[in-house]
Amino acid sequence: MADQISVLGFAGSLRRESYNKAALRAALELAPAGMTIETFDLAPIQPYNEDVKQQGFPPPVQEFREKIRAADALLIVTPEYNYSIPGVLKNAVDWASRPPDQPFEEKPIAIMGASPGRLGSARAQYHLRQCFVFLNGLVMNRPEVMIGNAPQVFDDQLRLTDQPTRELIAKLLLSLVDWTHRCRT
Ligand SMILES: Cc1cc2nc3c(=O)[nH]c(=O)nc-3n(C[C@H](O)[C@H](O)[C@H](O)COP(=O)(O)O)c2cc1C
Repeated sequence: MADQISVLGFAGSLRRESYNKAALRAALELAPAGMTIETFDLAPIQPYNEDVKQQGFPPPVQEFREKIRAADALLIVTPEYNYSIPGVLKNAVDWASRPPDQPFEEKPIAIMGASPGRLGSARAQYHLRQCFVFLNGLVMNRPEVMIGNAPQVFDDQLRLTDQPTRELIAKLLLSLVDWTHRCRT
């Protein structure tokens, strides 16, 4: 249905107690009416190797590419490692981006991220945006969701308890609905 938005969400952390995976779970709760968010676990995606790619995409990569292609929009939740994108996430984007028909082309994308530090993965988010310049992904500019001081905004069960952060994620998702419609016209 034209008014329905299907979103594929993935987080760049494999950690069981990941704040970024917790932020993605919060997004599932906060999705507006008409938006569905399916999540994809990056763990089965092996390190990129051109020799492997020449034999064909490994099944988890193939599945990832198909889910990206089928989704109306992406929600990417990135940690920050050494002021940049974690290898797990960069590796998954690299695999998915290989020709033919790289699936990020003109795909509406929202980015958010969490960190125990004050800047909430801001530097990693800007590096991730830069990747999508080359890939021609349509990354939404605003609102920016940089969840700093993560141990204070999530509780012991990793539920997002900070109300302003919940409102910001809800606003991001509403904006993504609008952005996805605008990208289609
Ligand atoms: C290799 C490595 C580098 C890191 N570098 C940064 C950094 O540059 N900035 C930052 O805010 N946190 C950094 N951290 C801390 C992460 O933000 C923290 O481990 C966070 O919990 C990771 O996200 P997750 O909870 O989703 O796994 C780093 C952690 C690791 C393991």
